[in-house]
Amino acid sequence: MSIRSKRKEEHLNLAQMFFNKSNFNSFDQLHLLRPALPEEKVDLGVLKTKMFSKSIAAPFFINAMTGGSKKSKTINQALAQIANKEQIALALGSASILTKESEQLDSFSIARNEDPDGILIANVNPETPATEVKKIITDLAVDALQIHLNTVQEIAMPEGDRDFYWLNNIKEIRQAVDLPIIIKEVGMGLDQNSIHLLKREGIDYFDVAGSGGTNFAKIENARNQHDVSYLENLGLPTVISALMAKKENVNFIVSGGIRNPLDILKALTLGGQYVGISNVFLQQFNLHGLIGLQQLIRAWKEDLAGLIAIYGKHDLASLTEIKKYYDFSLKNQIDQLI
Ligand code: FNR
Repeated sequence: MSIRSKRKEEHLNLAQMFFNKSNFNSFDQLHLLRPALPEEKVDLGVLKTKMFSKSIAAPFFINAMTGGSKKSKTINQALAQIANKEQIALALGSASILTKESEQLDSFSIARNEDPDGILIANVNPETPATEVKKIITDLAVDALQIHLNTVQEIAMPEGDRDFYWLNNIKEIRQAVDLPIIIKEVGMGLDQNSIHLLKREGIDYFDVAGSGGTNFAKIENARNQHDVSYLENLGLPTVISALMAKKENVNFIVSGGIRNPLDILKALTLGGQYVGISNVFLQQFNLHGLIGLQQLIRAWKEDLAGLIAIYGKHDLASLTEIKKYYDFSLKNQIDQLI
């Protein structure tokens, strides 16, 4: 197995080892005012929306994780089948490995076979040459492209990147690619200034991927020879990062630490157009298989529709009108940062 495939399999194992779905995060510090008399009824139809001009059954999706190893192929196949059945979008894990190991192509391309009409999103690192990105997009037949920014993860990896001059290459990718481009973090959060710089370059969406869920400093610390656990707290909480994206007036996706349908509702009230979920779905698949994950996604749709009704709303667009209030410590961070 190549060093890159081995790393992917280690990430999958460690993401499972460190998974704790009851971890406290910034969504617990954000509260929504709920009317006792909502005058609404539960309707699954309220969840329907569009993404990249295709219809989807819900505004949440399976965010980037796998590809580039044997185990990832099995996972991507299952995730694409579920995305197809439940009509939700699926982002594939980083395909930058294909620039070095083209034999790994089928671990990604299997997704389009399983979900011929659904929304698939490719993912690359910010150093992938624009010509290679174009090839990846064609080979994977995707609807959009994610470029991930992951400095903390790189610095925590002994074999990681040490050159973070990424902007010029991102500009080149933007010029070469016609599809919508999403800039995302990987669980440490996008800050306002980076969003500001990138929105000027014509980036279409920002996926904040804030802290509170999967922590790549923790995962890399377990792979590192020396202790880098001090990097674990460098993340920007998802709620803060989402408020920064809102302030920049960009289209944004909320992800990082989504644990349940209430977190999804909160993410939508912050102004996120879509909500991404990674590890919670992966661990459901690990524990309960394809059927188990499909059942969870179906249950989350019903529960989210239920929540929208009890909060007195009947469409996704009006969720930002729900009154929000914050615990003091989060409010304090918001006041200092935004
Ligand atoms: C990831 N994530 C990720 N992100 C990315 O942009 N490219 C990638 O290849 C991967 N790979 C990956 C593997 C595994 C096993 C996990 C758990 C995660 C990060 C992911 O997309 C997301 O940003 C973070 O996991 C935060 O979301 P959750 O897990 O807290 O919902």
